[in-house]
Amino acid sequence: MAVAVSVNGRITDGDHAVVSVFDNGFVFGEGVYEVLRTYGHQPFLYDEHIERLRHSAGMLGLPVPFTNDELLAQIRAVQAHAEGKEHYIRILLTRGVGEFSYDPASCPTPTVVIIVKPLAETPDSWYEAGTRVSLVSVTRNHPGSVNPRIKSNNLLNNALAMQEAIRKSSVEALMKNYRGELVECCQSNFFVVRDGAIHTAPLDAGLLAGITRAFVHTLAGELGIPSYERTLYEADLDTADETFTTNTTREIVPVVRIDDRVIGSGTPGPVTRRLIAAFRRHAAATSLHPAQA
Ligand code: PDD
Repeated sequence: MAVAVSVNGRITDGDHAVVSVFDNGFVFGEGVYEVLRTYGHQPFLYDEHIERLRHSAGMLGLPVPFTNDELLAQIRAVQAHAEGKEHYIRILLTRGVGEFSYDPASCPTPTVVIIVKPLAETPDSWYEAGTRVSLVSVTRNHPGSVNPRIKSNNLLNNALAMQEAIRKSSVEALMKNYRGELVECCQSNFFVVRDGAIHTAPLDAGLLAGITRAFVHTLAGELGIPSYERTLYEADLDTADETFTTNTTREIVPVVRIDDRVIGSGTPGPVTRRLIAAFRRHAAATSLHPAQA
């Protein structure tokens, strides 16, 4: 089967995977998720992703009913039924089946879903020529409301932002926070390169602690590229030499236009290219030696 799904341990193809309409994940969006991808069928940065899943769940007071090893065994069982050169893996954990009540005690058993499907390859042109992103009017969730640190199944904020970007024919939506600072995109973190250094917004600006974002900081350290977390403003786009986004499925994507603004030379710059090359070296090593990655 192309797509394989486990719902509470029952593995089926995508068409036969069912969750109750009374699940709080469906009714309230009350749940959290993770997206991983594989290299050589090995889930990349597995422990980091599951640590973030636990953090997200903790912010909802949601119990996590498995150890990392137990979950990995389940993922591998689902992978065994799925097709694809590489796999996209989505793990969803919801409050479980309830009776339209916000009281956690009314739904004591969380629902665990694992979806494995062939990874959709990102077009080569995105890396070679760069992409266009839109700075959208939708404000990123206030951290005091639905905190962007929670990788929440409630993705309305992200969906509204992306709808605006799609209307403007862009591949990503760059968002500001309630203070008007640049924070992140609706599906990725955002970096500015200036004078050979990389800059990204700090976590307390209200954004997801991206696993790729953290990995890029490590890569920058290895390459001797200075990396900073600092407040970013729209004016930083005018002085940026390069910009790029990071996420699990697309890795590091050069951004050469933000709406009508051309960034730097209008082509992917040398710092972004070095980071992409270093990332791919690590990913290739993972697929050969998963335990050492
Ligand atoms: N999205 N910010 C947001 C809002 C995201 O949704 C994502 C990832 C990221 C990057 O995080 P990471 O490097 O850990 O993938 C940042 C995933 C890919 C998704 O929801 O499909």
